[in-house]
Amino acid sequence: MSISDAQLQKMATYIRSYILRTAEMHGHRNAFFRANARWTHTLNTAQNLKLILEGENAPADVRDVTEVAALFHDIDHYTVQHEYHAARGAETATRFLTKEGYDPAFVKRVAKCVREHDRDLDDNIPIDKQVAELVATLDLECRMVMDADTLDKIGVSNILQAVMSMSSADKRQVVDAARELTSGWPLQRAKLWKALLTTETGKRLGEERFAFYETFLKQVEVEIVMHDPYTEVTSMQEVAPLSST
Ligand SMILES: [Fe+2]
Ligand SMILES: [Fe+2]
Repeated sequence: MSISDAQLQKMATYIRSYILRTAEMHGHRNAFFRANARWTHTLNTAQNLKLILEGENAPADVRDVTEVAALFHDIDHYTVQHEYHAARGAETATRFLTKEGYDPAFVKRVAKCVREHDRDLDDNIPIDKQVAELVATLDLECRMVMDADTLDKIGVSNILQAVMSMSSADKRQVVDAARELTSGWPLQRAKLWKALLTTETGKRLGEERFAFYETFLKQVEVEIVMHDPYTEVTSMQEVAPLSST
């Protein structure tokens, strides 16, 4: 079986409108904006997946399963609490694909990848142990979808996300963004995501994106003056008149 572009288009239309409708229904603020951001993340995930499939030389059946799973993976982002979104998404994908007449074995594989894409980390267990457990217990095809999702949280996406998620962005200046970005937490978060990658291609891409992130932050420090060496002007009254005449 091979999934056609027309089939993918039908799924994409369904998923996109489902995300939009549920974001609105569940009363999320800026529902339209958020739903579109989620869709962009979905597209990035699908694109990352293609790179992984190439790198891992995946067979046609794995391509079909994972490409569909990548599209569905966050469909229920707005319908339930975050910890349940993967399980609920698997149910929604199953319902849609079954109704559309897809082979039950195929539907089952897609549902598994959607259900397993989001794992809760246990703070009490070392991360490498949890990752080893993941590699030992989860199919490669599902780990490909997981990595594709995770890669969207490292590198350029992470940088843009970190800048945009700062509160009251309209009052922020470049120097505030520079300070926040170089404060440590965005890179720390990217490093954590990188540690969760388990496929060979995912890990390679993660290293590349993380290295870019580090280089970018170093360049921020080179180009942006974050500490003013002069005494601050605290009010407009202190601003010297332009001319003394
Ligand atoms: Fe997710
Ligand atoms: Fe996701």
